[in-house]
Amino acid sequence: MRRLLPVVLLAACATAEPTTTTTAALGIVDPLSMPAKPTVALDDVPSAETCKDCHPNQFAEWTGSRHAQSMTDPVFQGLVGVRQGAFHGVQDKFCVQCHTIAGVRSQDVSPGFKFADLKPKSMEGVTCWSCHGVQQIARLHNAGLTMAKDGAMRGNLPQPQTTNAHGTAEAPFLKTPEFCGACHEVVELSGLPLERPYSEWLTSPAAAKGQTCADCHMPFYTGSAAEGAEPRVGLRSHRFVGLDPPGAREAPSAELRAVYAAQRDALLASAADLTIAPGTAQPGERLVVAVTVQNKIAGHSLPTGSTFIRQCWLEMRAVDANGKVLYETGTLDANGDLRDRWSALAPYADADLVSFSSGFIDPVGQPTLFPWLAAEHHRNQLRPGEQRTYSLFVPVPKDVAAPIQLTARLRLRTYPPFLLKVLGLDALLPDVILADLATDATAVNL
Ligand code: HEC
Ligand code: HEC
Ligand code: HEC
Ligand code: HEC
Ligand code: HEC
Repeated sequence: MRRLLPVVLLAACATAEPTTTTTAALGIVDPLSMPAKPTVALDDVPSAETCKDCHPNQFAEWTGSRHAQSMTDPVFQGLVGVRQGAFHGVQDKFCVQCHTIAGVRSQDVSPGFKFADLKPKSMEGVTCWSCHGVQQIARLHNAGLTMAKDGAMRGNLPQPQTTNAHGTAEAPFLKTPEFCGACHEVVELSGLPLERPYSEWLTSPAAAKGQTCADCHMPFYTGSAAEGAEPRVGLRSHRFVGLDPPGAREAPSAELRAVYAAQRDALLASAADLTIAPGTAQPGERLVVAVTVQNKIAGHSLPTGSTFIRQCWLEMRAVDANGKVLYETGTLDANGDLRDRWSALAPYADADLVSFSSGFIDPVGQPTLFPWLAAEHHRNQLRPGEQRTYSLFVPVPKDVAAPIQLTARLRLRTYPPFLLKVLGLDALLPDVILADLATDATAVNL
């Protein structure tokens, strides 16, 4: 891995947001999300474990969600480790401010911290309290949430039953996209936007018809909000389904894994469309194939969120009747990597590659993997509802054996293998999830 240049990093600090200051001893400071003095006492933060007996369903779903993995995820820990090395501790809170509000605001996370030393409550990540202990939304990015001091659990149940365990308070903002955006909009210290599903949502067809993040990611069900409480309609699922598998907080049974996989597949099945429309060609000419892809998600771009970690791309192959490969783009090298600039085996070998992911460019114009080294963030996501057509040119040899079989698919995966190797996480290679969002195939007779 290339070593990171301190000079570049100082340049990044110079353009930091006005509210963010740097002092060597305390590390970077943001009064709300990375305060210089504790604004939360870890003792006052309830562990999810204490909700388990009364809210077994919410607890079980949360446990199988990415929110419960946000501190234990090895890829997260790996990247944070690289940043810690680059900034000698000074910026150590930056990456964790949303992944554990409790840990950062209580100073359990301090410059030079190690994950293994953090308290269990910090390691609970986006725990129940991170959402139900919120007083109000203060800004729409970087953990822009003010936490309440009264210990009440905020929700929107009509006339909640009283309990000795906690007070309740109404929080109309909980179900709004702004609430999700307070964490899901990630802005680097340099001011560079990293993740922005909320901004994408703002101008989407979903926003126009009042469809929220929760409508798709927290579907309704009927059940008891608490053990022994009257059944209610309109409870919200806490699984927060996305591409990722549930992590290992409590290793889910094979049965539960199958349930999660089915939920993920159902979500992904609604994401995209793809069609191929070949022209005509004679042997010795080029066959023009129009491939049209569409993002069917009304709520945000495809991909969204950590688009610089996810890979989303178009694959097309043309094979003649003898099995001879006439053309391929978006196929993988022997390491399982795309044949783009990050491939160890075939760098720049796929000139036609259409990737919908994003990438960083550093101040001297070189691609970089790390957002903190980036001056620019280049995106090629499909906007909500957007349909785009690409023309691909298949060389047809004079001795071609017709028909030519064309296959295309729009693929999405959690991580590229090379990134896992850079982070020393080769052991995770078998766990990479690769999903085909849409496929099409046709045969061309010449
Ligand atoms: C503004 C809040 C916020 C900050 C700051 C933040 N993240 Fe995240 N992070 C998120 C959210 C929200 C997601 C979920 C998005 C997704 O899965 O696409 C996420 C997802 C991730 C994932 C993907 C986990 C997986 O396995 O799929 C990684 C890795 C990650 N963040 C690393 C980092 C690093 C490294 C930093 C510091 C440079 C950082 N995050 C800073 C909110 C934040
Ligand atoms: C002793 C049992 C008990 C424990 C422990 C408990 N709760 Fe509750 N909680 C309840 C009951 C009962 C309700 C009301 C349910 C109803 O009216 O249908 C409730 C309601 C809620 C609500 C909805 C509030 C509203 O106004 O809409 C939230 C949110 C909540 N609890 C979160 C939590 C969290 C988070 C924890 C753990 C930190 C927790 N609870 C621990 C019993 C408990
Ligand atoms: C119309 C339904 C819909 C709405 C509204 C919606 N989403 Fe999604 N979301 C999806 C689908 C489908 C996917 C799966 C495609 C993907 O993973 O990129 C997804 C994926 C995601 C992912 C996971 C990305 C990944 O790579 O695993 C995150 C994070 C996310 N949405 C956050 C949000 C937030 C935040 C909002 C509100 C600002 C929102 N979504 C609104 C349907 C929706
Ligand atoms: C990422 C934010 C988030 C986390 C983490 C979270 N919740 Fe919720 N929770 C919500 C939202 C949003 C609602 C729906 C609020 C509404 O209907 O307006 C909700 C609703 C509830 C309700 C009301 C009944 C229902 O299920 O709709 C209870 C009870 C509850 N949550 C308990 C918990 C417990 C216990 C945990 C941890 C084990 C937890 N929540 C974790 C966001 C969260
Ligand atoms: C306190 C900060 C916070 C809040 C509030 C929050 N999230 Fe998250 N969310 C995260 C982080 C951090 C992750 C990444 C966890 C990981 O994968 O390591 C995440 C992950 C997710 C994922 C899983 C993405 C994947 O890769 O599979 C979905 C879906 C999601 N959030 C939806 C929501 C929705 C919808 C809301 C609003 C109701 C919401 N979140 C509120 C911090 C938050």
